[in-house]
Amino acid sequence: MILREEKYELDGKEILLRSANENADDANMLIDYLKTVTGETRFLMCESDEVKYTTEGELSFIKEHNESENGLLILSFVDGEYAGNCSFEGKTSSRRAKHRAGIGIALFQKYTGFGLGRLLLEILLRKIKEQGYEQAELTVVEGNDRAYHLYESLGFKECGRVPNANKYDDGTYSDDILMVLSLRDEGRNENLA
Ligand SMILES: CC(C)(COP(=O)(O)OP(=O)(O)OC[C@H]1O[C@@H](n2cnc3c(N)ncnc32)[C@H](O)[C@@H]1OP(=O)(O)O)[C@@H](O)C(=O)NCCC(=O)NCCS
Repeated sequence: MILREEKYELDGKEILLRSANENADDANMLIDYLKTVTGETRFLMCESDEVKYTTEGELSFIKEHNESENGLLILSFVDGEYAGNCSFEGKTSSRRAKHRAGIGIALFQKYTGFGLGRLLLEILLRKIKEQGYEQAELTVVEGNDRAYHLYESLGFKECGRVPNANKYDDGTYSDDILMVLSLRDEGRNENLA
Protein backbone atom coordinates (compact mmCIF):
# COMPACT_ATOMS: atom_id res chain seq x y z
CA MET A 1 0.00 0.00 0.00
CA ILE A 2 1.05 3.55 -0.62
CA LEU A 3 0.51 6.55 1.63
CA ARG A 4 0.42 9.71 -0.43
CA GLU A 5 1.92 12.76 1.29
CA GLU A 6 0.00 13.95 4.35
CA LYS A 7 0.91 17.00 6.42
CA TYR A 8 0.18 17.69 10.10
CA GLU A 9 1.26 20.16 12.73
CA LEU A 10 2.45 18.93 16.08
CA ASP A 11 4.01 20.94 18.89
CA GLY A 12 4.73 23.79 16.43
CA LYS A 13 6.54 21.47 14.01
CA GLU A 14 5.55 20.47 10.47
CA ILE A 15 5.07 16.73 10.11
CA LEU A 16 5.14 15.12 6.68
CA LEU A 17 4.14 11.48 6.29
CA ARG A 18 4.61 9.41 3.15
CA SER A 19 5.54 6.00 1.82
CA ALA A 20 9.16 5.38 0.91
CA ASN A 21 10.21 6.15 -2.66
CA GLU A 22 11.74 3.34 -4.65
CA ASN A 23 15.11 5.04 -5.07
CA ALA A 24 18.60 4.73 -3.61
CA ASP A 25 18.25 7.92 -1.56
CA ASP A 26 15.35 6.58 0.49
CA ALA A 27 16.86 3.06 0.62
CA ASN A 28 20.16 4.36 2.02
CA MET A 29 18.36 6.73 4.38
CA LEU A 30 16.44 3.75 5.82
CA ILE A 31 19.62 1.69 6.26
CA ASP A 32 21.44 4.57 8.03
CA TYR A 33 18.37 5.11 10.22
CA LEU A 34 18.26 1.44 11.25
CA LYS A 35 21.96 1.48 12.16
CA THR A 36 21.41 4.58 14.30
CA VAL A 37 18.14 3.69 16.06
CA THR A 38 19.31 0.17 16.96
CA GLY A 39 22.34 1.79 18.63
CA GLU A 40 20.25 4.35 20.53
CA THR A 41 18.13 1.90 22.54
CA ARG A 42 18.06 -1.66 23.90
CA PHE A 43 14.43 -1.92 22.84
CA LEU A 44 14.77 -2.79 19.14
CA MET A 45 15.31 -6.11 17.41
CA CYS A 46 19.10 -6.28 17.17
CA GLU A 47 22.45 -4.65 17.82
CA SER A 48 23.53 -1.86 15.51
CA ASP A 49 26.45 -3.86 14.06
CA GLU A 50 23.99 -6.57 12.98
CA VAL A 51 22.26 -4.24 10.51
CA LYS A 52 23.77 -5.44 7.24
CA TYR A 53 21.15 -4.44 4.68
CA THR A 54 22.28 -3.49 1.18
CA THR A 55 20.79 -0.76 -1.00
CA GLU A 56 19.40 -3.42 -3.37
CA GLY A 57 17.86 -5.38 -0.48
CA GLU A 58 16.30 -2.24 0.97
CA LEU A 59 14.91 -1.28 -2.45
CA SER A 60 13.18 -4.68 -2.63
CA PHE A 61 11.82 -4.15 0.89
CA ILE A 62 10.39 -0.74 -0.13
CA LYS A 63 8.93 -2.16 -3.35
CA GLU A 64 7.33 -5.09 -1.53
CA HIS A 65 5.64 -2.76 0.97
CA ASN A 66 4.50 -0.31 -1.71
CA GLU A 67 3.05 -3.05 -3.91
CA SER A 68 1.62 -5.20 -1.11
CA GLU A 69 -2.09 -5.23 -0.28
CA ASN A 70 -1.13 -6.46 3.18
CA GLY A 71 1.41 -3.99 4.42
CA LEU A 72 2.21 -0.31 4.78
CA LEU A 73 5.42 1.52 5.65
CA ILE A 74 4.99 5.15 6.75
CA LEU A 75 8.01 7.46 6.88
CA SER A 76 7.80 10.61 9.01
CA PHE A 77 9.67 13.88 8.53
CA VAL A 78 9.80 16.67 11.14
CA ASP A 79 10.46 20.11 9.66
CA GLY A 80 11.94 18.34 6.63
CA GLU A 81 14.23 15.93 8.55
CA TYR A 82 13.65 12.18 8.52
CA ALA A 83 12.42 11.20 12.01
CA GLY A 84 11.60 7.48 11.78
CA ASN A 85 8.90 5.16 10.59
CA CYS A 86 6.14 2.77 11.49
CA SER A 87 4.69 -0.13 9.56
CA PHE A 88 2.24 -2.97 9.58
CA GLU A 89 2.26 -6.34 7.90
CA GLY A 90 -0.69 -8.69 7.66
CA LYS A 91 -0.09 -12.26 8.76
CA THR A 92 -0.83 -13.90 5.46
CA SER A 93 0.61 -17.36 6.10
CA SER A 94 -2.89 -18.92 6.35
CA ARG A 95 -6.58 -17.97 6.17
CA ARG A 96 -6.78 -18.52 9.93
CA ALA A 97 -4.26 -15.76 10.61
CA LYS A 98 -5.15 -13.20 8.01
CA HIS A 99 -7.32 -11.12 10.35
CA ARG A 100 -4.14 -10.20 12.29
CA ALA A 101 -1.73 -7.35 11.57
CA GLY A 102 1.71 -6.98 13.16
CA ILE A 103 3.01 -3.49 13.93
CA GLY A 104 6.47 -1.94 14.28
CA ILE A 105 7.61 1.60 15.06
CA ALA A 106 10.91 3.33 15.80
CA LEU A 107 11.88 6.99 15.87
CA PHE A 108 15.27 8.62 16.27
CA GLN A 109 15.61 9.53 19.99
CA LYS A 110 15.81 13.18 18.93
CA TYR A 111 12.20 13.00 17.70
CA THR A 112 10.69 11.07 20.61
CA GLY A 113 8.54 12.43 23.40
CA PHE A 114 6.43 15.08 21.68
CA GLY A 115 3.55 13.00 20.34
CA LEU A 116 4.87 11.81 16.97
CA GLY A 117 4.62 8.14 17.97
CA ARG A 118 0.99 8.57 18.98
CA LEU A 119 0.16 10.41 15.74
CA LEU A 120 1.83 7.72 13.62
CA LEU A 121 0.15 4.86 15.45
CA GLU A 122 -3.29 6.45 15.29
CA ILE A 123 -2.92 6.81 11.52
CA LEU A 124 -1.47 3.32 11.10
CA LEU A 125 -4.24 1.74 13.20
CA ARG A 126 -6.88 3.56 11.17
CA LYS A 127 -5.38 2.12 7.97
CA ILE A 128 -5.27 -1.36 9.51
CA LYS A 129 -8.91 -1.07 10.53
CA GLU A 130 -9.91 0.22 7.08
CA GLN A 131 -8.23 -2.83 5.53
CA GLY A 132 -10.56 -5.05 7.59
CA TYR A 133 -8.05 -6.48 10.06
CA GLU A 134 -9.61 -7.55 13.34
CA GLN A 135 -6.62 -7.21 15.60
CA ALA A 136 -3.28 -5.43 15.78
CA GLU A 137 -0.36 -7.08 17.51
CA LEU A 138 3.07 -6.00 18.67
CA THR A 139 5.97 -6.93 20.88
CA VAL A 140 7.49 -4.49 23.35
CA VAL A 141 10.64 -5.12 25.34
CA GLU A 142 10.34 -5.11 29.14
CA GLY A 143 11.44 -1.73 30.48
CA ASN A 144 10.31 0.25 27.45
CA ASP A 145 7.89 2.17 29.63
CA ARG A 146 7.24 4.99 27.18
CA ALA A 147 6.24 2.57 24.42
CA TYR A 148 4.20 0.38 26.81
CA HIS A 149 2.31 3.41 28.12
CA LEU A 150 1.60 4.63 24.58
CA TYR A 151 0.34 1.23 23.41
CA GLU A 152 -1.81 0.77 26.54
CA SER A 153 -3.33 4.23 26.07
CA LEU A 154 -4.30 3.24 22.52
CA GLY A 155 -6.13 0.20 23.88
CA PHE A 156 -3.48 -2.53 23.53
CA LYS A 157 -3.59 -5.16 26.27
CA GLU A 158 -0.67 -7.20 27.52
CA CYS A 159 -1.39 -10.85 26.76
CA GLY A 160 1.81 -12.69 27.49
CA ARG A 161 5.56 -12.65 27.89
CA VAL A 162 8.54 -14.53 26.54
CA PRO A 163 10.91 -14.60 29.50
CA ASN A 164 14.53 -13.65 28.76
CA ALA A 165 13.75 -13.25 25.05
CA ASN A 166 16.65 -10.82 24.65
CA LYS A 167 20.20 -11.45 25.83
CA TYR A 168 22.50 -8.44 25.63
CA ASP A 169 26.23 -8.28 25.07
CA ASP A 170 26.70 -7.39 28.75
CA GLY A 171 25.07 -10.69 29.78
CA THR A 172 21.77 -9.19 31.00
CA TYR A 173 18.34 -10.25 29.72
CA SER A 174 14.92 -8.74 29.09
CA ASP A 175 11.49 -10.23 28.41
CA ASP A 176 9.42 -9.66 25.30
CA ILE A 177 5.88 -8.52 26.16
CA LEU A 178 3.16 -9.40 23.66
CA MET A 179 0.32 -6.89 23.27
CA VAL A 180 -2.89 -7.08 21.26
CA LEU A 181 -5.46 -4.47 20.30
CA SER A 182 -8.84 -5.83 19.32
CA LEU A 183 -10.37 -3.77 16.53
CA ARG A 184 -13.65 -5.65 16.79
CA ASP A 185 -14.81 -4.24 20.14
CA GLU A 186 -17.07 -1.32 19.38
CA GLY A 187 -16.74 1.55 21.79
CA ARG A 188 -13.19 0.80 22.89
CA ASN A 189 -11.47 2.38 19.94
CA GLU A 190 -13.50 5.51 19.27
CA ASN A 191 -10.29 7.39 18.38
CA LEU A 192 -9.71 5.00 15.47
CA ALA A 193 -13.21 5.14 14.03
C1 LIG B 1 8.25 4.21 21.51
C2 LIG B 1 8.06 5.39 20.59
C3 LIG B 1 7.59 4.94 19.23
C4 LIG B 1 7.01 6.31 21.22
O1 LIG B 1 6.85 7.45 20.40
P1 LIG B 1 6.94 8.92 21.06
O2 LIG B 1 6.70 9.91 19.99
O3 LIG B 1 8.23 9.03 21.81
O4 LIG B 1 5.74 8.84 22.08
P2 LIG B 1 4.65 9.94 22.38
O5 LIG B 1 5.37 11.23 22.71
O6 LIG B 1 3.65 9.98 21.27
O7 LIG B 1 3.91 9.32 23.65
C5 LIG B 1 4.65 8.84 24.71
C6 LIG B 1 3.72 8.66 25.88
O8 LIG B 1 4.47 7.99 26.91
C7 LIG B 1 4.53 8.81 28.07
N1 LIG B 1 5.84 8.54 28.63
C8 LIG B 1 7.03 9.09 28.32
N2 LIG B 1 8.01 8.52 29.07
C9 LIG B 1 7.41 7.60 29.85
C10 LIG B 1 7.87 6.69 30.84
N3 LIG B 1 9.16 6.62 31.15
N4 LIG B 1 6.96 5.87 31.44
C11 LIG B 1 5.65 5.92 31.13
N5 LIG B 1 5.15 6.77 30.19
C12 LIG B 1 6.03 7.60 29.58
C13 LIG B 1 4.30 10.22 27.58
O9 LIG B 1 3.81 11.04 28.61
C14 LIG B 1 3.26 9.97 26.49
O10 LIG B 1 2.02 9.68 27.06
P3 LIG B 1 0.78 10.71 26.97
O11 LIG B 1 0.55 10.95 25.49
O12 LIG B 1 -0.34 9.94 27.63
O13 LIG B 1 1.23 11.94 27.72
C15 LIG B 1 9.39 6.21 20.46
O14 LIG B 1 9.76 6.73 21.72
C16 LIG B 1 10.53 5.38 19.88
O15 LIG B 1 10.61 5.19 18.68
N6 LIG B 1 11.44 4.93 20.75
C17 LIG B 1 12.65 4.22 20.33
C18 LIG B 1 12.36 2.90 19.63
C19 LIG B 1 11.29 2.08 20.33
O16 LIG B 1 11.34 1.89 21.54
N7 LIG B 1 10.35 1.59 19.53
C20 LIG B 1 9.24 0.80 20.02
C21 LIG B 1 9.56 -0.62 19.95
S1 LIG B 1 8.20 -1.62 20.58
